[in-house]
Amino acid sequence: VSARRFGDYLVSTDPGDIDLDVVVDFLSNSYWAEGRDHATQARANAASRCYSVLDGAGDRAQVGFSRVVTDDTTFAYVADVFVLPAHRGRGVAAFMLRCLLDDLGPVTRTMLGTRDAHALYESVGFVPLVAPERWMERPSH
Ligand SMILES: CC(C)(COP(=O)(O)OP(=O)(O)OC[C@H]1O[C@@H](n2cnc3c(N)ncnc32)[C@H](O)[C@@H]1OP(=O)(O)O)[C@@H](O)C(=O)NCCC(=O)NCCS
Repeated sequence: VSARRFGDYLVSTDPGDIDLDVVVDFLSNSYWAEGRDHATQARANAASRCYSVLDGAGDRAQVGFSRVVTDDTTFAYVADVFVLPAHRGRGVAAFMLRCLLDDLGPVTRTMLGTRDAHALYESVGFVPLVAPERWMERPSH
């Protein structure tokens, strides 16, 4: 899939467009991936479909990121979603997520976790767990 344009922004799925420094700088300071290092993120990215938002008006600097782990059939897990502060509030995250979800096609189940961005994900079709008693997780620590 070639880059998709949203105003001055481009959404790219080319792994070569990922600026690992930008991604790790943001994620290592986030509440969900605190301290994540370059090698860990590179390993996760390599096993994911990654979405990079580039500033198409300027120097194509990376301003947003997300990734999805999926079998393209029954299951998808969306992770590491962010837009840098200077570019928020313009619909960039929603557009990036629409690109990611469009590419998934008819996947049976698409999941994610969030602390406070529920409204963002509701805007692209997510709802809270309908039957949380049917779900389990296996904490790593
Ligand atoms: C959350 C985040 C990705 C949103 O990026 P954004 O480009 O500003 O989002 P958009 O402009 O596409 O917002 C689309 C809709 O999502 C909702 N939304 C956006 N940011 C939100 C937030 N932080 N909390 C709740 N709802 C939010 C709004 O309803 C918005 O609709 P509106 O434009 O009618 O107000 C960005 O604020 C960010 O990177 N935050 C820090 C990292 C983070 O929390 N990531 C999510 C982890 S699960």
